[in-house]
Amino acid sequence: MPNVSRIFVIGATGAQGLPVVRGLVEDGRYSVLALTRDAGSARAQSLASLKSVAFLEGTFADEATLREGLRSCDGAFVNIDGFNAGEKTEMYWAIRTYEIALEEGVKFFVYGNLDYTLKKAGYRSMFRTGHYDGKGRIGDWILDQTRANGDRMGAALFTTGPYMEMAFSGGTPMPPRLEDGVLTWRVPLGDGAVVHVALDDCAYYVRWLFDHPERANGMNLEVAIEHVRYADLAAAFERVTGHPARYVDTDLDTYFAPIQAIAGQPAGYNADPADKSTMSFRENFTGFWNQWKHGIITRDYTLLDEIHPGRIRSAEDWIRRWEQRAKETGTETLWERVQPERLARRPILKLSEDHRQGIL
Ligand SMILES: NC(=O)c1ccc[n+]([C@@H]2O[C@H](COP(=O)([O-])OP(=O)(O)OC[C@H]3O[C@@H](n4cnc5c(N)ncnc54)[C@H](OP(=O)(O)O)[C@@H]3O)[C@@H](O)[C@H]2O)c1
Repeated sequence: MPNVSRIFVIGATGAQGLPVVRGLVEDGRYSVLALTRDAGSARAQSLASLKSVAFLEGTFADEATLREGLRSCDGAFVNIDGFNAGEKTEMYWAIRTYEIALEEGVKFFVYGNLDYTLKKAGYRSMFRTGHYDGKGRIGDWILDQTRANGDRMGAALFTTGPYMEMAFSGGTPMPPRLEDGVLTWRVPLGDGAVVHVALDDCAYYVRWLFDHPERANGMNLEVAIEHVRYADLAAAFERVTGHPARYVDTDLDTYFAPIQAIAGQPAGYNADPADKSTMSFRENFTGFWNQWKHGIITRDYTLLDEIHPGRIRSAEDWIRRWEQRAKETGTETLWERVQPERLARRPILKLSEDHRQGIL
C-alpha cells in the first residue's frame, strides 16, 4: 500500500475540513487540492495562507469537476455535505466520488462518515436520521467494495459525530443560551449522552489514516471524545470557568417550538421539498436526538487511546484546553463566546455562516 502525497479534499473549508487540511499540510508531508464553490470566501482564504494548499473551484455534484480533482491527486478525503444535498443526492455523489477516484488512479480514499444509525438501532424508524444514514449506508458499501478493490485503491472510513464546538456555537442543534446569567442547554436528551468529537483531534486522526495506509485500509475509525451527558457538561463548565451552567431535559415539541420556521423545511437546503424521500429538519433531528437518548452509538475508547495517546478524553478536558489556549493566545474564552451578540457572529459551521444557501 503506497503512501500518497497529494490529497483531493471535499469539504475543506468546513468546520471539519479546516483542521483536517491543516493537519495534512502543516509539516509539508502532504499537499492538498481543496474543492470549494468559492475560492474567495474568508474560510478558503484562511487556507490559502497555508503552504501546499491549492484550490479547485466547483461542486461535488459534477462528474467533470470530480474527475479533474481526483485525476491530479493520489489521495482523497471526502466529506460530502449532506446538509446541502439531502440524504438521497448525497448518497449518489458519494458513490460516484468513490467510483471516479478508483477509475482515476487514487491510491488511498478516506470517507468522512457518520454512524449508520438506523441499522445500529435495528432498523427502527424512530432512529432514522438522514444525515447519518446517508453517510453510514455508503460507509458500509465502501468497506464492502474495499474487500474486492482494496489492492487497487485503499479506503478507510473516518466516522465522527457532533463537534464539541457545536455546544458552544449558534446555529447548531445544541445551541448554548444565556438565561438569567446561566449558560443553559435545552435539548431532548433525557439521561442519554452525545458522542461528541473534538475538531483538533480530527486533524490527528485523518493524518494518522493517511500515514498508516497498511493498517487503515478497510478500517472504520469511529472517533469521539467520550459519551457526553449534558448534566456532566454543565458541571464541568462550572468547575473550569466558575460560571453557572445547567442542562434542562426537554420534550421534542418544546425543543422544536422556537425553530418552527425551519422545522418543516428539508434538512438539506437543496433537497427537493416535493420529493417524498426528503426528510424535514424536524424528522431528521428527531432521529438524531433519539439515537443519543437511547444509547445507540458506541465507541472503542481503548483503540482511540492506542492510536492517539494525547487525545482529548473528556468534555472537561476539552473545556480546559480551550480556556488554556484563550489565556495563552488572547482568543475568546468560552464564556465570552456564548454571549448572545458573539454567538451570531462566529458560527462553527460554514453552512450557518452562509445562511443555508449556495449551489448544489
Ligand atoms: N456538524 C457536525 O457536528 C458534523 C459532525 C460530523 C459530520 N458532519 C457532516 O459534515 C458535513 C458538513 O461538513 P462540516 O461539518 O464541515 O460543515 P460546514 O462547516 O457547514 O462545511 C460545509 C462544507 O461543505 C462544502 N460544500 C457544501 N456544498 C458543496 C458543494 N456542492 N460542492 C463542494 N463543496 C461543498 C463547503 O465548501 P464551500 O462552501 O467552500 O464550497 C464546506 O467546505 C455534513 O454532511 C454533516 O452531516 C457534521
